[in-house]
Amino acid sequence: MKKIFVSAALASLLFGAFPSLSAADIKANYNIIPKPREVVIKNGASFTLNAKTVITYPKGNEALKRNAELLAGYIKDLTGFELKITTKAPKKNFIMLHADANGGDPTQNLTIVGIQQAFVDINGNSPESNFNAIQTFRKSIPDVTGGKEVEFAPVTITDAPRFTYRGAHLDVSRHFYPTDSIKTFIDMLALHNINKFHWHLTDDQGWRLELKKYPRLTEVGSVRNGTCIGHDFSTNDGKPYGGFYTQDEVKDIIKYAADRHIDIIPEIDLPGHMLAALKAYPELGCTGGPYEIWTRWGVADDVLCAGNDKTLEFIDGVLDEVAELFPSEYIHVGGDECPTYAWEKSESCTAMKDKLGLESHRALQAWFNKQIADYAREKHGKKIMGWNELITDKGADMELTKTMDPVIMCWVGAEQAAKLSQENGLKHIYTPHNGGYYINRCYRGIDKVGAVGDGSLSLTYNTNPPDNDLCIGVQGTFWSEQVDRDRDLEYQALPRLIAIAEHAWTPASLMNYDDFMKRAKADTEILDLAGYNYGRHQLTTPQK
Ligand code: ACM
Repeated sequence: MKKIFVSAALASLLFGAFPSLSAADIKANYNIIPKPREVVIKNGASFTLNAKTVITYPKGNEALKRNAELLAGYIKDLTGFELKITTKAPKKNFIMLHADANGGDPTQNLTIVGIQQAFVDINGNSPESNFNAIQTFRKSIPDVTGGKEVEFAPVTITDAPRFTYRGAHLDVSRHFYPTDSIKTFIDMLALHNINKFHWHLTDDQGWRLELKKYPRLTEVGSVRNGTCIGHDFSTNDGKPYGGFYTQDEVKDIIKYAADRHIDIIPEIDLPGHMLAALKAYPELGCTGGPYEIWTRWGVADDVLCAGNDKTLEFIDGVLDEVAELFPSEYIHVGGDECPTYAWEKSESCTAMKDKLGLESHRALQAWFNKQIADYAREKHGKKIMGWNELITDKGADMELTKTMDPVIMCWVGAEQAAKLSQENGLKHIYTPHNGGYYINRCYRGIDKVGAVGDGSLSLTYNTNPPDNDLCIGVQGTFWSEQVDRDRDLEYQALPRLIAIAEHAWTPASLMNYDDFMKRAKADTEILDLAGYNYGRHQLTTPQK
């Protein structure tokens, strides 16, 4: 991420003579995204943020100390001021971080920013909600590159999220993004109060996670022989393409996200979308191979064999390391787009189906998932998430699936999937592929960057999540088939991800597209300052 700012010292040298840059001639604005529940602007004298402002946190509170350091970094980027961090508040001109709103009950998720002449009070019920309040404060600071002082009208902003799961997904299999790009992506999430990063680490086109027990997954499974150009499957650039994250890099990214109160949910997509693993370990497939890592997109017929004990042993081994690496309560086990052709042709799968007394080969998938879910829970205390085919595929075994208590990610036929989840007592997350929540798509009528299909900011904003009490959140989902550059990733994700962040955070009753557009235009200052290559035209000449 490119940081563009002129330091305070340089600015005073360059512009010192000009009165327009004198103290506090820049005003904070409270047009925040996601829209807060309540903004009460008060009468009275303003607070001035300047080079002498101090940030305080409660002594011994390491999480708030980390928040203070992040806040200092944001303020430095925005203003050039390098603020001192301390545990002892001066008489005035300080920003005080704490997390004891209403006695500090963390289930309340309150974020409170109170500003008065002498100080700014940034509060919450937990370090996470304090961090969200920091983002609110940060977004109220306009881009004041050049070390100008900022005046804040006295205000109380009281807020709380609509959903506990506020997610963004990124596919790093079809195209690989290096660790710095992942951190930039995480920064985008933090800015908009997104607290879950769903990391799609494996697929037919490449395995991206180092696992010590299965070195061939990355030695062999991370490099494909070429990539089709755009969506034309008849083409292929013939160039080896690959990349993976070492466990040290993964740990570093997990820490980076955790510091920003973002939980990473790893996805190992199975039993379909497994060609990269099958290339590395062909004995895990129904035919024994050989298999090739896919150089095109789409849904492959070859999947993990469901009639072979070795397959479940392999998955247990994968889960052991994934569970060890990722602190998340959930592991995502995919489950999408798994054809049964290979199982139908396989004697061992048919024998397994008959032995288990299952009605169809499709039912093997629920049995397979059940083994995995039980292992994840019993051995590692983890729960599973999966794509909605777990319950919506023809022949899916709802009763068995319910015993796994999975969280269902509703993408295809998302409304129906959400309804079915609700009726069957299953928690679910809304990410409709054709409702503008697949944020990699082309911008409607504008250009060809991004995958097939198209979308616009208004489509995303106007697609409302279901009003189900078991709907725990929403997610912007990013598939990378046709997004080979980090800059295009930013361009596709922004600003649609911001619209999803508003669905995730703001009560539906406060959402309004015209009002959002005004605030989104103000948000561009912070996106510009961060150097993001966002789909600016969506804000200036919005497509219907
Ligand atoms: C998916 O888009 N295959 C979940």
